[in-house]
Amino acid sequence: MIQQIVFATNNAHKLAEVRAMLAGRIEILSLADIGCTADIPETADTLEGNALLKARYVHEHFALDCFADDTGLEVDALDGAPGVHTARYAYPDRHDPEANNRKLLAALSDCTDRTARFRTVIALVLGTAEYLFEGVVEGFIVPEPAGTGGFGYDPVFAPAETGLTFAQMGVEAKNVISHRARAVAELTAFLSRQ
Ligand code: IMP
Repeated sequence: MIQQIVFATNNAHKLAEVRAMLAGRIEILSLADIGCTADIPETADTLEGNALLKARYVHEHFALDCFADDTGLEVDALDGAPGVHTARYAYPDRHDPEANNRKLLAALSDCTDRTARFRTVIALVLGTAEYLFEGVVEGFIVPEPAGTGGFGYDPVFAPAETGLTFAQMGVEAKNVISHRARAVAELTAFLSRQ
């Protein structure tokens, strides 16, 4: 069984989530823990490509097993956009969540089809092998932002299974069904079998 693995992130929330799921089984190291301060490039044009870029970077530079994630919001009426550009949808050079939400609602103002999904891809590099895991939550974009919790697109995205936005659901209920939780569950099930 693997003892230690790097999660190529410094996002404290994501680290805590994954550490909790693997508690007592595998130690999760962050980029800070291994002394990686590089701004790892995310220049691929797919979620899979970006997750692999990050995991491979750590494996190549630090010779450690590693996994990395990438998430996109895919809106059907926008042919899957913002997709791989989700973080920087409104401005290519910066992450402005409120501007992202405004741009999305404006793009859908005349649309009756508001179906969308959040998709998280996790890439794992283990020795010479590479694996991909996915978590998806299907839902729709609401007409106006609703709710005060969460981050990013949480006020405008509602999972089909609850009908409330992620921002209205609260973080605990969100984390039971979220795209990220589902992808992490696939990863942890795999790692537990190694
Ligand atoms: P990342 O790959 O996890 O950094 O996610 C890329 C972008 O997707 C983030 O900057 C957010 O804008 C958006 N995003 C990812 N996960 C969520 C979520 O759970 N709720 C709302 N927005 C999210």
